Amino acid sequence: MDKIIINGGKKLKGEIKISGSKNSGLPILFAALLTDEPVTITNVPSLADIDTTVAFLNYIGKKAVKKGNTVKASPSEQYKHVAPYDLVRKMRASVLIMGPLLARLGKVDVSLPGGCAIGARPIDIHLEAFKKLGVEITVEGGFVKTHAKNGLIGADIEFRFPSVGATENIMLAAVLAKGKTRIINAAKEPEIVDLQDILNKMGAKVKGAGTKIITIEGVEKLHGATHKVIPDRIEAATYLIAAALTKGEVLLKSVVPEHIQIVIDKLEKAGMEIVSKKDTVFAKWVKELKPDNIATEVYPGFPTDVQAQWMALMSLTKGKSTITENVFENRFMHVAELQRFGANLAVSGNTVTVTGVEKLSGAPVMVSDLRAGAALVLAALCAEGESVVTRIYHLDRGYERLEKKLKQLGADIKRVR
Ligand code: UD1
Repeated sequence: MDKIIINGGKKLKGEIKISGSKNSGLPILFAALLTDEPVTITNVPSLADIDTTVAFLNYIGKKAVKKGNTVKASPSEQYKHVAPYDLVRKMRASVLIMGPLLARLGKVDVSLPGGCAIGARPIDIHLEAFKKLGVEITVEGGFVKTHAKNGLIGADIEFRFPSVGATENIMLAAVLAKGKTRIINAAKEPEIVDLQDILNKMGAKVKGAGTKIITIEGVEKLHGATHKVIPDRIEAATYLIAAALTKGEVLLKSVVPEHIQIVIDKLEKAGMEIVSKKDTVFAKWVKELKPDNIATEVYPGFPTDVQAQWMALMSLTKGKSTITENVFENRFMHVAELQRFGANLAVSGNTVTVTGVEKLSGAPVMVSDLRAGAALVLAALCAEGESVVTRIYHLDRGYERLEKKLKQLGADIKRVR
């Protein structure tokens, strides 16, 4: 298994291009199942989760090929309706197979999902919503078996929580349902807007993405389209925090600053100098940072996917701060590993109190999930001495060319087998 070795203490300086968004690319790839015409998707990041999804599409019967950062999906064979454990266990987003296959075949059997081990992560919101669209659901032998005997019928669906995945799954199903669907209390994340954009390019009638209510008028058929995936806001936020931690200066290119406005605001409040332009963000460390509390919320609140990285930053920021996780249960797996670097962290329920320390010391650490891994790499970048980060396959699921980009910014980092 590959490892990353980092010698901490180098200021990051320079510019990097932010990759296409993983969390946008995944549902968009699944959207290709909704048509038999060619679909071309550009700015697709090269990541393990994307490869898993492309393999998944091919397994189901959709010919999809990734070359560089472009995925081309061509006319399909007859789709299979069973998504086996081997494909689903690798990635929680596999559950997004349900919407398109229910729309095209009226049935799909999905092995219960895997992915990041963050809390319970059930799929009850997805399933309750599918029931409203006329889907019968049974759970048998580790599979969720679904069948829309009379086809999908549009309905009003109110989510108890604005789940990102459930919003996407229902959009992917309702575009081909009979009649109108309204998703009430929908997720408002930029990835939802990106999905609406490609669906409408394919001939769907979706309105309201980015607000609490999404309205979908079902159509008979969708056609081919070409679409460029939005930049990865979580990757962008991670590099901004890396600049802050290493007292460096970094220019991010190909970003949408407004997608990370809350992180920019927090970094500015802490003392970073930040200049955002149309599609760039420049961040420079100019003075000792001040601690600041965060509480994760759905978009446009502070992203849960940046919580661990913020904890790494606060660990080295003089004074006390609190970090509250409101989106996931049990998303503090990085705490014990950050403590190995010497961070002073106290967990109480869903809040961590951080007391900034003078320095972190290099340590051997193990990645437990994707964003926790990012936090460990960030801590290692400014810890004194050598750190060895293992189980980096989690990082390969979500950060394109991580060590190459960090090296380009001047980090002393290498990947070894
Ligand atoms: C997506 C992102 C992930 C991000 C998360 C929250 C992708 C591929 N992943 O994950 O990076 O951290 O949004 O911004 O886009 N929940 C239920 N029942 C459900 C569905 C969700 O209880 O049926 C709960 C989850 O356990 C969690 C919360 O709702 O506590 C948020 O989950 P959700 O918004 O669905 O996240 P994902 O779509 O899985």
